[in-house]
Amino acid sequence: MNKRMLWVASGIISLIALLSQCITQPAQDLRGPAYAGANTCISCHQDIYNHYLQTTHFKTSSTNVLGTFPGSFTYDDSTRVEMVVTDSGKVQGGHLFHLAVGSGRHAQTYLYWNNENYYQLPVSYYVSAGHWANSPGFPNSHPKFDRQIPSTCFGCHSSAIGIKSVAMVGRGLKETFEKGKIIYGIDCERCHGPAAEHVAYHTAHPEEKKPMHMTAVRSLGNQQQLDMCALCHSGLKTPQKSLFDYQPGDAYDDYFFPDISGPSRPEQLDIHGTQYQLFTASQCFKKSRQMNCTTCHDPHQNEANNMVAFSKKCMQCHQQQPSPACKFDKMAVLNCVDCHMPQLPSSKIVLSGTYYLRTHLIGIYKQ
Ligand code: HEC
Ligand code: HEC
Ligand code: HEC
Ligand code: HEC
Ligand code: HEC
Ligand code: HEC
Ligand code: HEC
Repeated sequence: MNKRMLWVASGIISLIALLSQCITQPAQDLRGPAYAGANTCISCHQDIYNHYLQTTHFKTSSTNVLGTFPGSFTYDDSTRVEMVVTDSGKVQGGHLFHLAVGSGRHAQTYLYWNNENYYQLPVSYYVSAGHWANSPGFPNSHPKFDRQIPSTCFGCHSSAIGIKSVAMVGRGLKETFEKGKIIYGIDCERCHGPAAEHVAYHTAHPEEKKPMHMTAVRSLGNQQQLDMCALCHSGLKTPQKSLFDYQPGDAYDDYFFPDISGPSRPEQLDIHGTQYQLFTASQCFKKSRQMNCTTCHDPHQNEANNMVAFSKKCMQCHQQQPSPACKFDKMAVLNCVDCHMPQLPSSKIVLSGTYYLRTHLIGIYKQ
């Protein structure tokens, strides 16, 4: 048995499902009257909205616990899961799964609420491996329940979080949160900015087909379009401004302090969440103009594992087979991706087994 799993498996922690009422979303938009909320977009952008519900952006925070436990537990909206510490059969303490972070594309980690703060639970669910193991960075020796979660975490994994107070304590920030005040997932207005005026105008003028009070993403400069995604896809750095303030057209550099300590060569970057740096270091990006994340990705669709569709994007620019070594066959099922953007192990997330993520440094890799 793997050592890391030992304390999990040896029954120090057992997982119990408890029935409870579901947590309801606040009725008014937490962000204030300038925001309309994703539900209001349905009436006029139904297709986009329906597809968006399938995206990992939408699912990246929720109360939906994906992992299943040995035995016959099932989980639905009215089921809550509790993680308790037991010693020789006696319950020593425990914490509810108040919140799940991660869509489960790769993994899901869980937070509990206590005394105006969120804390990370010591075990996470690793979807591809199909098992529970220590949350990244948590020790094997004992369950740890004191890792506080800062608002930056929600800045990339939710659409709003109620912050009650912020104070400088020593060199760090001490935050407290408002209970139950959260907008789950990354919603339309995280990328498109506040839209209440847009909604009000078009509701009052249904004959108007031209978009009003809304920035057209395609009218932005290429770097501005990249920055919309870079905001959350550049890895963990020190923010100088709340990521929740983002509006289309804003510059990435206004949100983070320059990273002077990080590695300067892209090959040395950890591939976790650093798609922006890796992609912009690729020859495809450097040698072509106006290429950005939406050259390959439709942010409203879940396109996971659709290698044929992605390879068609490659073919828009690469029409000739460069050499016989490049298995490049227009007639056969295409998959440029596995050879030129392979799955590589992430060095930052150390787990039982290896955690593979797809690199965005497009290039030639030895098999
Ligand atoms: C009452 C109707 C209505 C509602 C509600 C509505 N929109 Fe729109 N929206 C429009 C119309 C009309 C257009 C222009 C035609 C089109 O692109 O569909 C538009 C266009 C857009 C565009 C494209 C702008 C461009 O120039 O490329 C975005 C982005 C957008 N809406 C976002 C939203 C978001 C986000 C919401 C919800 C918060 C929303 N809309 C709710 C009517 C509406
Ligand atoms: C507010 C933060 C945020 C912004 C802005 C953002 N992302 Fe993401 N994105 C995430 C997070 C967090 C995940 C991981 C979601 C998960 O699996 O829990 C993710 C996942 C993804 C995925 C992989 C999942 C899949 O569905 O296959 C793609 C692709 C992606 N983002 C593209 C983009 C693009 C393109 C943009 C810009 C148009 C963008 N993102 C903007 C936070 C963000
Ligand atoms: C700067 C933005 C950012 C911050 C801050 C951030 N994440 Fe992420 N996180 C991402 C992105 C982007 C992804 C998906 C892309 C990837 O894995 O490369 C991701 C992936 C994840 C996943 C895996 C999701 C899946 O379904 O595969 C988990 C779990 C996660 N983050 C938890 C956290 C927790 C907990 C925190 C706070 C302590 C946090 N993240 C802070 C951007 C961020
Ligand atoms: C991760 C960021 C992100 C999220 C979340 C997002 N969008 Fe978009 N949206 C974009 C980008 C980028 C474009 C420009 C796409 C392009 O250039 O191909 C766009 C384009 C649009 C357009 C105009 C072009 C089109 O495809 O018709 C509309 C309308 C729109 N979005 C509505 C919405 C609505 C409604 C939601 C929520 C249900 C939403 N978006 C969520 C990033 C996002
Ligand atoms: C917008 C156009 C465009 C798209 C889309 C595109 N590329 Fe490229 N790619 C280029 C250009 C331009 C170069 C540089 C060619 C040169 O130097 O002759 C390049 C270079 C490359 C190289 C050589 C890299 C190196 O380091 O030598 C590979 C491999 C490659 N692309 C694969 C892909 C794959 C796989 C995809 C799809 C996932 C893709 N490209 C999508 C434009 C593009
Ligand atoms: C040349 C095409 C191309 C471009 C440009 C591109 N991606 Fe991707 N991306 C892909 C492919 C292909 C995948 C693999 C999809 C899969 O495995 O399902 C992917 C996967 C992802 C994932 C999921 C990673 C994982 O391991 O699960 C994220 C997140 C992502 N892209 C974000 C971005 C962001 C942000 C940008 C812009 C900075 C970007 N991508 C630009 C082709 C591209
Ligand atoms: C089986 C793996 C494999 C597949 C599949 C594959 N390639 Fe390649 N590709 C290679 C190898 C290996 C090379 C280097 C060839 C050499 O050294 O001459 C290469 C070279 C290239 C180059 C040229 C790099 C240069 O600097 O000259 C481009 C561009 C490219 N591939 C694009 C693609 C595209 C687009 C697809 C999908 C249609 C694709 N490849 C599918 C393995 C692959």
